[in-house]
Amino acid sequence: MADHPDIEDGILDLWPTKIMARRPDGSESWNKELVRLVRELERDNKNLTTDYLAPDLFNMDHPAVNWLRDQVNGTVIEYLRLLGIDYPVNWQITGWPSVNRFGDYHDAHNHPWSYLSGTYYVKMPTTRETLRNRKDVRPGCITFYDPRGGVNMTAIKNDPYVDPEYTVLPEPGLMLLWPAFVNHFVHPNLSKETRISISFNIVLKWSDEYLPDQG
Ligand SMILES: [Fe+2]
Repeated sequence: MADHPDIEDGILDLWPTKIMARRPDGSESWNKELVRLVRELERDNKNLTTDYLAPDLFNMDHPAVNWLRDQVNGTVIEYLRLLGIDYPVNWQITGWPSVNRFGDYHDAHNHPWSYLSGTYYVKMPTTRETLRNRKDVRPGCITFYDPRGGVNMTAIKNDPYVDPEYTVLPEPGLMLLWPAFVNHFVHPNLSKETRISISFNIVLKWSDEYLPDQG
């Protein structure tokens, strides 16, 4: 591993967790097609969201899936570029639709055997049932957790470790991409309207070129 005799005065930003947000053009009309497709797939497989052995969505030759595949690939290319990865990287996308109905949630998890993971939001509820919930519920949100468990233990106000979670209320057309090791939690849907998203994994096709120089 290289040492760093050239370290400069100032703050060094070490070990960041890079999460990307992107809103692809044309999502509004494609989302209508994607909703139609997911509803069709659900007619054939009632357990679509939790059936991890279901056929891979991205293997379909369907105009809306083809559009989404292009958007996922474009987002990964941009993500790698922003990270400074300036050599060829090859990957495979696997993906699946999630339909969350009233009360559905997905407990905290990460995505083993993947390099990156992401979600594209197709349809979000616009209403919420009137219930006597506690006031800190965040229906339909996704929360990401600091992968360095416990670093907030002694954090104080305004230091960068004080909040161990980051929560987003996604809107249709938003794509998020993150390192697959990051734990995340999808909060319960408290609407009678469905919440539809498409999650995906970026699995690298291995090459020894990915190994860092061992100088
Ligand atoms: Fe997930």
